[in-house]
Amino acid sequence: MSTIEEPVAIDVDKLHQFVFRAVDEVGATLNTALVVMGDRLGLYRALAGAGGLSPAELAQRTGSAERYVREWLNAQAAGGYVEYDPDSGRYTLPPEQAIALTDSDSPAYLPGFFQIALGSVIDSPKIVDAARNGDGFGWHEHTHDVHEGCERFFRPGYNASLVTDWLPALDGVVAKLERGAHVADVGCGHGASTILMAQAYPQSTFVGWDYHDGSIETARKRAQEAGVADRVSFQTAPAAAYSGNDYDLVTMFDCLHDMGDPVGAARHVRSTLKPDGTWMIVEPNAGDRVEDNLNPIGRAYYAFSTLLCTPASLSQEVGLALGAQAGEARIHDVVQAGGFGGFRRAAETPFNLVFEARP
Ligand SMILES: C[S@@+](CC[C@H](N)C(=O)[O-])C[C@H]1O[C@@H](n2cnc3c(N)ncnc32)[C@H](O)[C@@H]1O
Repeated sequence: MSTIEEPVAIDVDKLHQFVFRAVDEVGATLNTALVVMGDRLGLYRALAGAGGLSPAELAQRTGSAERYVREWLNAQAAGGYVEYDPDSGRYTLPPEQAIALTDSDSPAYLPGFFQIALGSVIDSPKIVDAARNGDGFGWHEHTHDVHEGCERFFRPGYNASLVTDWLPALDGVVAKLERGAHVADVGCGHGASTILMAQAYPQSTFVGWDYHDGSIETARKRAQEAGVADRVSFQTAPAAAYSGNDYDLVTMFDCLHDMGDPVGAARHVRSTLKPDGTWMIVEPNAGDRVEDNLNPIGRAYYAFSTLLCTPASLSQEVGLALGAQAGEARIHDVVQAGGFGGFRRAAETPFNLVFEARP
C-alpha cells in the first residue's frame, strides 16, 4: 500500500539564518589558508606593534606583492583579525591578535592550529576515498603541514602546563625527575614534549619514540638545536614494540587515540615500566557522551578526528579507532585492559585531560 507523504513545513527565516551562517563558515574556512599565508609571509609579524600600515608599507616591509597584500588585508579586516581606518587607509593589528598570531611563547599562539587544519583540509580528498570503504590513512602519509602544524599547535599548551601543573599532579614523579629518572615519551612526533621535559629536568634521560621516521628525524634536529641531544635520543618504533624495561615514567601526549591497538600499547607500556613507575596519558578534553562534546572545542576535535585520528588508527592493526573525543571512561577501559591497577584523572585544561596510570 502506498502512502502520500505530508510536505515538510519549512521555516524560511531559519533557512536564511543557516545560509548566512554558512557564508561566515566558508569565509572562516578560507581564512585558514590566509592565516597560514600571513604567518609564512611575515605579514602579522610586520604588523605587530607597527601602528597603522598601508598595504604598500606592509608589502615593502615583508618583500611581498602589494596587490596580494591589499586583498589579504581586506579579508583580515572583514574577519576582525586587523582593524581598518578608512580615513588613513591604514590597517592595524590589535595587541591581542598580535599575541595570538605572533608570540610563539604564548599559550594563546594560534598559527600551528591553522597550519594543522590547513594540512588536514589539503589531504581531505584521500580521506573521502578511504571513507568509501573504511580504509585507514596513516599519520605518516599526511602532508608536512599536518606534522609541523601538530608540533606548533600543541607546544604552547605543553609550555603552559606540562612542567608547572601536569607533572606535579602525578604522585612522586617530580621528585624522581629531579633526582634523575629514565623516561620514554611514546608517540612523540617532533619531540616538543620530550625536549621540554629534558630542559626542566637536567638529571634525567629521555627517549622519544614514534613509528613515523620523518617525525623522528625532525625531533633529532630539534634536540640538537635545543642543546639537549646528550640526554635525549629519538628512535623509530611503534608503541607496542619500543625497547627498554626500566622506565620510571612513560608519557603519551595526544597520541593514544591515534593508535590502532591502544590496548596492545598499554600492555607494552606496563611491561616496560619499573614496578613503581607511572604512565602519564594526555588526551584531548572530552566528555564520555556525544552530547557532552557538542561545543566549539568538540566540533574542532571531532573534525580533526574524522580527518586525522580515526583514519590513522584504522590504518594500523586492530584499528580500534577510539577517536579524538574518546572521553575518560573509554581511556580507563583501555588502561585496565592493558593490565594497570591504578587510574585517575590527575589534571585538566579546557583542551586536555591528563591521566595517571600505575601498574
Ligand atoms: C597527534 S600526533 C602527537 C605528536 C606528539 N605527541 C605531540 O604531542 O606533538 C600523534 C603521534 O602519534 C604517532 N603514532 C600514531 N600511531 C602510533 C603507534 N602505533 N606507535 C607510535 N607512534 C604512533 C604519530 O606518528 C604522531 O606523531
